[in-house]
Amino acid sequence: MALSLTVNGEHRSLDIEGDTPLLWVLRDELGLKGTKFGCGVGLCGACTVHLNGQPVRSCSTLLESAAGGEVTTIEGLAEGGQLHALQEAWIAEGVPQCGYCQSGQIMSAAHLLATNPAPARDDIVAAMTGNLCRCGTYSRIIAAVESVAGSSSMENSLAYDAAAARELS
Ligand code: FES
Ligand code: FES
Repeated sequence: MALSLTVNGEHRSLDIEGDTPLLWVLRDELGLKGTKFGCGVGLCGACTVHLNGQPVRSCSTLLESAAGGEVTTIEGLAEGGQLHALQEAWIAEGVPQCGYCQSGQIMSAAHLLATNPAPARDDIVAAMTGNLCRCGTYSRIIAAVESVAGSSSMENSLAYDAAAARELS
């Protein structure tokens, strides 16, 4: 069955069964390997992407439910060769250890800051609760998000998010 969706700004038409998990589509069909498989049942957050501006677990989101939608993966956060402010902060804070969970972490953080540009620490902890890290990088994740909250570089990234939202409306 032919289904289409937009991934990181590119229109994609896919002849794949509609009950295929979005994660398999991204990784195996489109070659976007930045989104990771962890638990496979929606519990760890490693596979988090944005669907129509909302964070979703792509392991448990079927292609047919994403059809016609706008998907952003970790590969789509950088814009015009410029890393997203959160990606810069992740580097500055040296957040990753093994790195496996980190694309999902960043996607959840990006949604938080797109909806709440100046979150309190409790807001950050609450927003990131569903993203697990076996390496225990939680304190550096919070520090990285706090370093971006309210900064001018985040305003640039928010301008990008707002432009994407306008395209959807
Ligand atoms: S792999 Fe999707 S939530 Fe764990
Ligand atoms: S950095 Fe290793 S699981 Fe999070």
